[in-house]
Amino acid sequence: MSSLILGIESSCDETGVALVRSTPGTAVPTLLAHALHSQIDMHQAYGGVVPELASRDHIRRVLPLTSTVLAEAGHTLADVDVVAYTRGPGLAGALLVGAGVACALGAALGKPVLGVHHLEGHLLSPFLSADPPEFPFVALLVSGGHTQLMRVDGVGQYELLGETIDDAAGEAFDKSAKLLGLGYPGGPALSRLAEQGQPDAFKLPRPLLHSGNLDFSFAGLKTAVLTQAKKLGGDLEARKADLAASTQAAIVDVLVKKSLTALKETGLRRLVVAGGVGANRLLREQLNAACQRQQIRVHYPELHLCTDNGAMIALAAAMRLQSGQQQATTTYAFDIKPR
Ligand code: KG4
Ligand code: ZN
Repeated sequence: MSSLILGIESSCDETGVALVRSTPGTAVPTLLAHALHSQIDMHQAYGGVVPELASRDHIRRVLPLTSTVLAEAGHTLADVDVVAYTRGPGLAGALLVGAGVACALGAALGKPVLGVHHLEGHLLSPFLSADPPEFPFVALLVSGGHTQLMRVDGVGQYELLGETIDDAAGEAFDKSAKLLGLGYPGGPALSRLAEQGQPDAFKLPRPLLHSGNLDFSFAGLKTAVLTQAKKLGGDLEARKADLAASTQAAIVDVLVKKSLTALKETGLRRLVVAGGVGANRLLREQLNAACQRQQIRVHYPELHLCTDNGAMIALAAAMRLQSGQQQATTTYAFDIKPR
């Protein structure tokens, strides 16, 4: 029998709600409807996410979004079989909103709830694309808080191959963008400006490129961008696009080379890219080109599901339940895991 899973994402600055149908025997659950409210406009004035404002806005949005999703899918709350929420990592106050609402809905409906790891949501999100992957694969998880390479053999079977020892790739985009006065969120802004610049205009470091392992480091890049910006002084404005392009090229170069090394070391022929930075055009172009040369298949989430959303949370919950990796509970004594 199929079941309906409602997913709620509230870990940072997007409130996302989605409904999926999970049918035993089918590999991938079906996304019935999803809705998203981005807080970007609200946080923009502060140059970054203000945690308290984020929590308050999640509270305002989450129930109306839930109604929208149910109406769009032609269902009511009474039809929902499991309520899933993001348990972490993320901002504590923001996570509490999703967890609290999910458990309250579960308790009121007499239905079980399930806390989902935010990164597992990102990791599995390409399964909702028109070209879903098959296990096993190497995953490159690149978000605002994480940069990891993983070997993925199935739902819940994840082996960490390497990760950042300091800043995440998204953080490198965001912090460099801030240094260049591009505002928040920096990744999309920096990559837009980079389209008008020369990627080889400035020689920027590719940290740990030849480290012999699969770890990353991006903190030094941010410092190099700052040094370069200072050196340019009054000329910065005229060279901004070049500096943005060079920064993006450095980040993408490391991500592509390390992904290829991970594929080589594991002997796997399939790469899955997930997380906000997975929306980056240059990264996709370069990965596509490199993987095509080596006859490796690459899978991405749909562009609109690269950044945070409720669909990936509902999906991850459904896939966990379907695989028997986890059971939903009716204790409702929820906890969150900000880290
Ligand atoms: O996965 P995500 O939405 O949130 C986290 O879980 O962190 O990722 C957000 C990150 C931010 O750092 C943002 O700047 C970056 O993804 N990002 C991009 C692009 N779109 C979002 N970075 C580079 N190019 C993009 N097009
Ligand atoms: Zn995320």
